[in-house]
Amino acid sequence: MKLIVSRLSGFCFGVERAMKMALQAAKRSSKDLYTLGPLIHNPQAVIYLESLGIQPKDRVEEIPRGTVIFRSHGISKKDLEKVKEKGLKIIDATCPIVKKAHHAAKFLDRNGYPLVIVGDPKHPEVEAIRSYLRQEAMVVESPEAITKMGNYKRLGVIAQTTQNFEVFKKVVKACLEKAVEVRVFNTICHATALRQKEAVEIARKVDCMIVIGGYESGNTQRLVHICREVQPKTYHIETPKDLNPSWFKNIKRVGLTTGASTPSWIAQEVEKEIRRRNPQ
Ligand code: F3S
Repeated sequence: MKLIVSRLSGFCFGVERAMKMALQAAKRSSKDLYTLGPLIHNPQAVIYLESLGIQPKDRVEEIPRGTVIFRSHGISKKDLEKVKEKGLKIIDATCPIVKKAHHAAKFLDRNGYPLVIVGDPKHPEVEAIRSYLRQEAMVVESPEAITKMGNYKRLGVIAQTTQNFEVFKKVVKACLEKAVEVRVFNTICHATALRQKEAVEIARKVDCMIVIGGYESGNTQRLVHICREVQPKTYHIETPKDLNPSWFKNIKRVGLTTGASTPSWIAQEVEKEIRRRNPQ
């Protein structure tokens, strides 16, 4: 059995940067060190951080004192105000590419463009972007949502950084049917676009595709979705324990990729386990 492993697996730049900032902080002192929400959407990495004394808390109210690390998704306006009011020290690990999406959204909002965000309304990155806007943004996951809208004089469009470029293009096209003027900022992270493109290329060549990443990770779920469109035998796992031997029966080629928040040590363990169970 042949294994095709993605060259772009493991942490993306923003997650790697956030992890480094957290590890450096823990090295200085892990006393009263917190993250607001899990630092990354990967339970195994969060357990590792906890073992170093970095405690994830869901709400600012649960952080009594000390230092709070903002994760790569960014922080909402309300939470930022609460953190400042409490006088907590801040380590801002918001990904610079996510910050660019914030700037684009604010620019369009301040210049009077009703804003369409292509993304998941419940994702913390989208929630944070919306919280800084003066007008309520419309969050859509597909072009169908735009076709149901009324007509506008002008519209602004941005995307959650980990969205799929093809969906983004379709939404932009649908917006052109609804407004005379459409101003678009492509805020999709280049690293995500490349990872998705490579994953689809691999999925096309194999008989079974494995995507490794946290079950709660939006970018991993999106990878699973787009790989499944070209290879129905696409499976989402978190660790080697989730591998099912029946997936590999009569299979000649297996593809392997990861979400942007999957540590490369987990990807290596999965690769090792597949090779062990299915010697060439
Ligand atoms: Fe940043 Fe792109 Fe990763 S936006 S957090 S580098 S997926």
